[in-house]
Amino acid sequence: MADAARQKMMALNLNLIPGGVFPGAWRASGEDAHHFSSLPHYIECAKIAEAGKLDAIFVADMPTWRFKGEFRPFRGLDPTLALAAVAQHTTHLGLIATGSTSYNSVFNLARRMSTLDHISGGRAGWNIVATAGDDAAMNFGMEHSLDHDARYRRAHEFVEASLQLWDSWADDAWVADKASGVFVDDKRIRHVDYVGEHIKVKGPLNLPRCPQGHPVLVQAGSSEDGIALAARFADIVYSVQHTLESCQEFRRKVREHAVGWHRDPDTIRVLPGLINIVAGTEAEALREERDLQDLHAEHYAINALALLIGVPVEALELNKELPWDLVPPDGHGGSQQGHFATLVATAKREKLTVRQILARQGGGMTHVTAVGAPEQVADLMEEWFRAGACDGFNIMPASLPTGAKAFVEAVVPILQKRGLFRTDYPGETLRDTLGLARPPVGFSDADFGKPIMRVSAR
Ligand SMILES: Cc1cc2nc3c(=O)[nH]c(=O)nc-3n(C[C@H](O)[C@H](O)[C@H](O)COP(=O)(O)O)c2cc1C
Repeated sequence: MADAARQKMMALNLNLIPGGVFPGAWRASGEDAHHFSSLPHYIECAKIAEAGKLDAIFVADMPTWRFKGEFRPFRGLDPTLALAAVAQHTTHLGLIATGSTSYNSVFNLARRMSTLDHISGGRAGWNIVATAGDDAAMNFGMEHSLDHDARYRRAHEFVEASLQLWDSWADDAWVADKASGVFVDDKRIRHVDYVGEHIKVKGPLNLPRCPQGHPVLVQAGSSEDGIALAARFADIVYSVQHTLESCQEFRRKVREHAVGWHRDPDTIRVLPGLINIVAGTEAEALREERDLQDLHAEHYAINALALLIGVPVEALELNKELPWDLVPPDGHGGSQQGHFATLVATAKREKLTVRQILARQGGGMTHVTAVGAPEQVADLMEEWFRAGACDGFNIMPASLPTGAKAFVEAVVPILQKRGLFRTDYPGETLRDTLGLARPPVGFSDADFGKPIMRVSAR
């Protein structure tokens, strides 16, 4: 389908990786480093993003202590709670929190996301993750994670049921009419009675339909299952892409799958990650990159690399290429699938030694990376956008908050001057910002009106 209605402006998110995407960046700042895993850091970054009129700030999450945060700031705060606090310090910025479909009850997560939308005046987004890994499963009474397929079958049901719970109140159910004394019109609320292979929930939700109708849905799958889920439900699709061509191909696939789900592909924003270092000149930016790489604890880097590619750390020799005979051909199906595939492709193509990979692990191995003067960064973004490779970017500054400040103060004005990015927020909600309609209630009026069954709370 022609990309005819392609929106004229980029969508830009800030990916809040505490301290910045370069693992050693937190050591560069004069701050007390505890700050980076604390709420004030989230608020500081959010305010910078809002000053730049960015669409949203995104907080990833894994319900497990996985990457051993001993060498970099961890991301421990529950994202929905942290963003609820950030909502009090911002007015227009979207707030995208990760929520696991593997390790949550659908009633609780649907309610939490709706609550975030209510208290932020319609700025909530949900990054739908079918969390992988036995370590997470063991935190929820299981010995092993569901396999990849089952995780995604559960995720489809989880989102279906969430949509029905959000629509279990008609928009006019919350009457709050003092004259009649009716606070809620019971006839405009209904059970959902959702029964699936993995999910069963009666409903209704215990709060009204949220300002956006449904929070904005986000997904970051890279496998066939992941792309199918994203194409069916997501308004925003994050991705790990290293070349313009691979991103064009990924976006084409997502749009094609969306048509298969009878969706208009122009309502989906594909946002690859963009790692960036912006400075006055390219030479300054490259120097900053070297300085940040030098702060990268090699012990941490080599362990993180071994974990990502699924080989024992002892098998990695600094002056040799990766032990290709040990590297599992398709990775280990975990949540880093996109990172794994892109890193392996780059290392093979460029015949990189382990030392060279470690030096670029901060940036340049997985997500596309732009290190340079503001115009250079803007040029790369414009080239990808105009080539139809993406609908914008998930901005990943090498260091936070300084890198976000540099991006907002130096690159955003260039994008605005070129007519590629907004100069002000068009409305109140995240859907307004993204140019997305407020979805109608998924039930017809006839579906409402049956009395809500009362079950005595024995
Ligand atoms: C930008 C981005 C953000 C992600 N955020 C999370 C996250 O917060 N939690 C998580 O468990 N996985 C996260 N993932 C991993 C994806 O959800 C997904 O599992 C991964 O891309 C592998 O794809 P697949 O599941 O289709 O195999 C993220 C991936 C990307 C690219």
